[in-house]
Amino acid sequence: MTNEIRFFELNTGAKIPSVGLGTWQSNPGLVGEAVAAAIKIGYRHIDCAQIYGNEKEIGVVLKKLLDEGVVKREDLWITSKLWNTDHAPEDVPLALDRTLKDLQLDYVDLYLIHWPAPMKKGSVGFKPENLVPPDIPSTWRAMEALYDSGKARAIGVSNFSSKKLGDLLEVARVPPAVNQVECHPSWQQDKLRAFCKSKGVHLSGYSPLGSPGTTWLKSDVLKHPVLNMIAEKLGKTPAQVALRWGLQMGHSVLPKSTHEARIRENFDVFGWSIPEDLFAKFSEIEQARLVRGTTFIHETYGVYRSLEQFWDGEI
Ligand code: A2P
Repeated sequence: MTNEIRFFELNTGAKIPSVGLGTWQSNPGLVGEAVAAAIKIGYRHIDCAQIYGNEKEIGVVLKKLLDEGVVKREDLWITSKLWNTDHAPEDVPLALDRTLKDLQLDYVDLYLIHWPAPMKKGSVGFKPENLVPPDIPSTWRAMEALYDSGKARAIGVSNFSSKKLGDLLEVARVPPAVNQVECHPSWQQDKLRAFCKSKGVHLSGYSPLGSPGTTWLKSDVLKHPVLNMIAEKLGKTPAQVALRWGLQMGHSVLPKSTHEARIRENFDVFGWSIPEDLFAKFSEIEQARLVRGTTFIHETYGVYRSLEQFWDGEI
């Protein structure tokens, strides 16, 4: 018997589709076609962010598909993220308005604080002097106002450690619905996963394939022998096994591709499952974080002085 796992329920009661198309590093000129292909294949969840620089192109495609009746807005799940330069409470609604304008939408289904690492308003690039001390409670109150307004139907965070998420939960009137973090078989997030579960915060996994195309990450997640052994046994690809592992672990997955065949392959993760004996093998995989956030660390400017501090030991 297989369990489809098409959706996960959030603490708002909304159902987030378990597989979303990632759009980080999807180049302008390609991302629109990728989104159109995904929606025609059956994806109902697109993961966006203002900093990805491609929301306008996605908006054009969404409008076309909605106008043509290919999909209904209420059946789509669109996530976007507040960039680091817009953490000041007065900038938060302006940032969402910009994103909504670009995406040609009235609301997003989920709006996330992208990183717990604010940067000077208007600053460009990752120079350490652009970093400013975080005031997450103030930023969160502005996020809560967006939730109240209905422009963001759920709010959450991204790249938050258990400690930072716990601190936020202490002060939040509207608890975060989601923590979107790096998660794949080689970075399984056991501690954070357990913490999120205990608090009713849904974990959503970015780089679920280990971002094999990102040369500076030196990723070989899809080459891991355990993944390949299981893929061979089940007649699936390593990518499908990595994604299906995520679903069976209980988190949503956001694979990025701009190739139609891969977009299709990555959605073919329903109607079959990894049996228990093979699933147990994932615990043998050695663990390493790929996206380390080194750009947010500076020894002397000192908002965060070490990776240890940034991730509160979860490295
Ligand atoms: P491309 O966009 O050229 O298809 P992640 O989602 O973990 O960040 O991984 C995205 C990277 O993985 C991209 O480089 C993407 O390349 C590649 N990719 C996406 N789907 C697959 C797949 N099914 N098999 C192998 N590589 C894939």
